[in-house]
Amino acid sequence: MNESLAIDPSRFQPLTLLPMNPARAALFGANLAGIDPWLRLGYSPVGLARYLSANDQGRQTLALQDGETTAACFTVRPGWLRGPLLELLAVLPQHQGRGLGKEIIRRLADEFRRQGEANLWTISSEFNVSARRFYQRQGFDEIGVLPDLVRLGETEILLRLKLQVV
Ligand SMILES: CC(C)(COP(=O)(O)OP(=O)(O)OC[C@H]1O[C@@H](n2cnc3c(N)ncnc32)[C@H](O)[C@@H]1OP(=O)(O)O)[C@@H](O)C(=O)NCCC(=O)NCCS
Repeated sequence: MNESLAIDPSRFQPLTLLPMNPARAALFGANLAGIDPWLRLGYSPVGLARYLSANDQGRQTLALQDGETTAACFTVRPGWLRGPLLELLAVLPQHQGRGLGKEIIRRLADEFRRQGEANLWTISSEFNVSARRFYQRQGFDEIGVLPDLVRLGETEILLRLKLQVV
């Protein structure tokens, strides 16, 4: 594994995690641009695909397979604030509601707890009520309000999952 990568996909077995590549990034770009929060925030398919496939040393983007099909993706920025920032999490609509999102969070929390990290952070748009409910069910607390972070007039909510008992 590359030393700079925080997640070793083999630790997520039996889940199958694959590195993001241009074909997968294009698939997610095309799909995510058509659903919230990205639709309302005005992201384009090309812009999302560029973000997902960018060679950024500071973050890791992985795709999750569900059987033969690509079902979800997530982007993690390690070492953010005594723990990583989950920058993006997306389960494609036809795969939602089947426990994949929950399993990704559970595995990320286990892995970063094992690495000795104190927190798993994420950000959700204020209007994305279903995602905020989802994160709260996974144990995240809403701890910050970030107006105009992504787009003028839209507020983002900072969420924190404590990984260690202090
Ligand atoms: C939010 C998201 C990641 C959840 O993933 P998922 O695979 O659909 O959710 P799961 O099937 O793992 O559900 C896990 C739990 O959350 C609950 N849940 C999932 N979606 C929910 C919703 N919209 N409203 C309320 N609860 C929800 C489920 O009922 C389940 O509850 P349980 O623990 O009692 O079984 C996914 O729906 C998604 O990608 N949405 C669009 C993009 C998005 O909003 N991303 C996150 C913010 S950027």
